[in-house]
Amino acid sequence: MLILGIESSCDETAAAVLDEKGTIRANVVNSQIAVHEKFGGVVPEIASRHHLKNILPVVNRSLADAGAGLGDIGLVAATRGPGLVGALLVGYSFARALAFGRNIPFVGVDHLKAHLLSVFLGPEPHPRFPFTALLVSGGHTALFLVRSPVESSLLGTTVDDAAGEAFDKVAKILGLGYPGGPVISREAEKGDPAAIAFPRPLADSGDFNFSFSGLKTAVITEFGKMGGKVNRADFCASFQEAVADVLSAKAVRAAGEHGGRLVAAGGVAANPRLREKLAQECFHAGIELFLPPLSLCTDNGAMIAHAGLHLFRTEGETPPDADVYSRSSFKAD
Ligand code: KG4
Ligand code: ZN
Repeated sequence: MLILGIESSCDETAAAVLDEKGTIRANVVNSQIAVHEKFGGVVPEIASRHHLKNILPVVNRSLADAGAGLGDIGLVAATRGPGLVGALLVGYSFARALAFGRNIPFVGVDHLKAHLLSVFLGPEPHPRFPFTALLVSGGHTALFLVRSPVESSLLGTTVDDAAGEAFDKVAKILGLGYPGGPVISREAEKGDPAAIAFPRPLADSGDFNFSFSGLKTAVITEFGKMGGKVNRADFCASFQEAVADVLSAKAVRAAGEHGGRLVAAGGVAANPRLREKLAQECFHAGIELFLPPLSLCTDNGAMIAHAGLHLFRTEGETPPDADVYSRSSFKAD
């Protein structure tokens, strides 16, 4: 039996085919970056229209790459939320109708839980449960205790912006385009991370919450003080260092208090400096670190198929009247 996973929560139309052992047979991601770039961020209606245009070709490509036909698919999984509702509805409705037409089961998957498990799709070693997970994406920044493939609890979250959002906003201020993460990390490679002393918000707060809006304000103020004439590489390296510092310090402390195993997931987990810092700090603290390959950090259908398989095995099908949702329902204990 093969599992088809479909993701359409933001600006990636993605489909993947997985086998029951969790091996990726195909993983196709169609990014709309070029479409949204000129607006400096994702425009929801345009994203929905592009998902509609792309969904069938992307699913067909994934089946062709897997050397499979629809008759080989025994389970369909699609992202149910959180995300842009209009975007979610395209992938979710497509997947549910496909399962209905083929008379096979369908599961609606939580995008964040899928990110948390994405490390299992990469090469071994894989973490044992429970583990602490730092989820850092465009819309979310949070620490979770992951007890099993279907049970996670929130340890802390951002009180304002997400880390990815901060990267995107800073890139916009510097005129570097969208999305900000990859371009800032490239610029930062040539810069001095100690050039500007940006604040480390909530670094010593004692809890597991994050805040990035103060850092964003500091970036705007600094940019203004320099009259817009900044050394881009130093500016990016200093900003990235501030983000990586707070993320890694809290994540490593959380893992130390909750079993000694840490996973990082989500688009910002592709950041080379964050990966390096986590590795250094985990080594010093005696914590085992597990990082997904770069291609599985950003949005993809493989993580949806994988989380969908676990969900189906424990809870069965998603009821036919289940709706998509825009916001995460996780609450801290
Ligand atoms: O997980 P993801 O693909 O989508 C969401 O679920 O949000 O994350 C996208 C975010 C964007 O904000 C992007 O700027 C950021 O991940 N990102 C990075 C890097 N690559 C992507 N941030 C920092 N460094 C990177 N190399
Ligand atoms: Zn995501």
